[in-house]
Amino acid sequence: MKACILAGSPRRQGNTAALLKPFTDELAAGAEVETVWLYDRDIRPCLACRACQKDWTSFSCIQKDDVSALAESILKSDLIVLATPIYSWYCTAPMKALLDRLVYGLNKFYGAEKGPSLWQGKRMALLLTCGYRPEQGTDLFEEGMRRYCKHSGLRYLGSHAERHLGYNVSFMDTDKEARTRAFARKLLSEDWD
Ligand SMILES: Cc1cc2nc3c(=O)[nH]c(=O)nc-3n(C[C@H](O)[C@H](O)[C@H](O)COP(=O)(O)O)c2cc1C
Repeated sequence: MKACILAGSPRRQGNTAALLKPFTDELAAGAEVETVWLYDRDIRPCLACRACQKDWTSFSCIQKDDVSALAESILKSDLIVLATPIYSWYCTAPMKALLDRLVYGLNKFYGAEKGPSLWQGKRMALLLTCGYRPEQGTDLFEEGMRRYCKHSGLRYLGSHAERHLGYNVSFMDTDKEARTRAFARKLLSEDWD
């Protein structure tokens, strides 16, 4: 099983990164894991030109940035993990730009005729950090991604969120680590055939 983790925090030593350490460690026991830090990549916003809709066999976006290579990695993966802090009730800006590019480039639904989803059947999971209690911090992004998955023919496997109580409080503790490891094990226990 191949997993592609899309890391959406600008802070390489921040809270999302702190959750990613035990998460990746646990996931690597049963999966080949690739982690991509989105703030290191050139990810431009979708221009809605619909050039991607003329080719039903590949991502085929005309923009020359890093997203075509990212789409290739995603197409080779069984599991896509969106690991992001919540910013203004959603994911961070590079992840949102990537989600927009993929929802057009990989779903050939927007041309003269309806075509296929090129990533049909892949699984998606969320690893989140937020400042509010998760039920008020992550709920809108989770619902958005539930609908995104349904629309794209992906299987939504669920989310795990941990709360940041403030910049003067240490984020990571043994309970957070244990819950995060358990979430990774839950993902591995899915039927991956
Ligand atoms: C610009 C910005 C917007 C934020 N918006 C929210 C929000 O809408 N809801 C929330 O619960 N937390 C919000 N937060 C808090 C972050 O989600 C939280 O601090 C997170 O753990 C940061 O993760 P990081 O260290 O990986 O960057 C925001 C933080 C920033 C910097």
